[in-house]
Amino acid sequence: MQQDFSPMSFLPTSGLSISTPADLRREIVGIGTRVPVLDGTERPYVFLDNAASTPALRPVMRCIEDFLPWYSGVHRGTGFKSLLATEVFDAAHDVVGAFVGANPNSNSVIFLKNTTECINKVANRAGLKPDDLVITTMMEHHSNDLPWRKQCRVIHLGVVEEGRPDLQQLRRLLDEYKGRVKMVAITGASNISGICAPIHDIARWTHEAGGLLFVDAAQLAPHRRVDMLPDDDPGHLDFVALSAHKMYAPFGTGALIGPKRFFENGQPDTVGGGVVEVVSLDHVEWNHPPHKEEAGSPNVLGGVALAAAIGVLSTVGMDAIAAHETALLTYAYTKLKRISGLTFYGPTGHCEDKVGVIPFNIEGKHHALVAAVLGIEGGIGVRNGCFCAHPFVKHLLGVTPDEDRRFTHEVLTGDKSHMPGMVRASLGCYSNESDIDALAAMLERIVRGEVKGTYRQDRASGAFHAEGYNPDFSRYFPYTLHSPAGMRRHSEAS
Ligand SMILES: Cc1ncc(COP(=O)(O)O)c(C=O)c1O
Repeated sequence: MQQDFSPMSFLPTSGLSISTPADLRREIVGIGTRVPVLDGTERPYVFLDNAASTPALRPVMRCIEDFLPWYSGVHRGTGFKSLLATEVFDAAHDVVGAFVGANPNSNSVIFLKNTTECINKVANRAGLKPDDLVITTMMEHHSNDLPWRKQCRVIHLGVVEEGRPDLQQLRRLLDEYKGRVKMVAITGASNISGICAPIHDIARWTHEAGGLLFVDAAQLAPHRRVDMLPDDDPGHLDFVALSAHKMYAPFGTGALIGPKRFFENGQPDTVGGGVVEVVSLDHVEWNHPPHKEEAGSPNVLGGVALAAAIGVLSTVGMDAIAAHETALLTYAYTKLKRISGLTFYGPTGHCEDKVGVIPFNIEGKHHALVAAVLGIEGGIGVRNGCFCAHPFVKHLLGVTPDEDRRFTHEVLTGDKSHMPGMVRASLGCYSNESDIDALAAMLERIVRGEVKGTYRQDRASGAFHAEGYNPDFSRYFPYTLHSPAGMRRHSEAS
């Protein structure tokens, strides 16, 4: 019989004292790791690329270590370890469902590889025909745009001031296409501007128009409480997808939560072992969801790690995490706005309805150069470019259609040196003022022209490299670098 697991079931039973966001910092694996910088010294790494992937939490590692002696294939094994692992893996599904407020009787939690795979599954499984309509927005990550484009007609909702989704246009579109719109697919929080969409209002309007709402929660779930609301609530979220690697559990799992009956209908998009009840040479009976949608041997460790991370986040509380982040964002903008020559994109004043993403540029400096100097001279990890949301970034930068065509042509001829873009610093639940101070200090240096290195741009990738910066990676992580390919890469670099 299934036991009743709460998120805390996945936390170590002793030695854990986490109650505030500040406590989370010392629970981050690799916090303060020293990395080499251009002048030959080492500095504690300042990690401000959490929107891409977060570091792991220690209690997640401990949970995995404690689980590994019991690790076994799940669902069809008869040995004790397999029975235990099955129980734990199934409970991890329940933990994720509870985390987003899903009704376990009517919703399935499906473990896949990441948010991208989750969105592709819904798009593949929705039975969309080429003439069907999905409304998404121009601020989406490509993962919440291209899977829909592959299936049917897509309208991209525009954005208004500060890059917010144009809700008036949405209401007009839903009115116009009432009864014909199959899905509205929107990000819960933008990976560029950080803006949180009013997803429950959007759900209500979408339902009134006869459609379903898909929420890409890749950026929302690590930062805010997600509540799907009861199924019969007009503001109910029909589908939610998230990625564990953005939630301190980087073990290759994503979760898709959606109506059981949606997945009970039709054939799974990926087929093979595990998805069936019974197969004969001319007949297949599909298993029930989630098994029907998790083809092949599942990523058991990934699911357990995600549940453990949810346990930690729930211990602190998502509302406390959100409040910490809002205060830190306010601190960051107050500090960064004092530096002359910085242009910010998206909201910078009131940070309650945006997650911890800070996109910016420095006047007259290539975004890739700024990102390179931050890393190579400051030991600060950020990201630059278009962040898999090319249309939105180009819109925020005011790139004209002619310029866009020129950049596209250049890229196709192997030159990314002029690709437009931004620098993005992004916060995690464990980030603090010292991270922002380090970023601000380096940006001030860059603005003052106090860059020490000589940087050259690689036209093919658009990235900048500093002369003389050839760190010996094998000193820091010896494993793969002893392979012939690793040694060759290393000798080429030095
Ligand atoms: C808003 C948003 N959606 C989807 C994704 C895709 O997530 P994943 O790469 O985990 O599939 C990302 C990744 O950065 C994202 O920021």
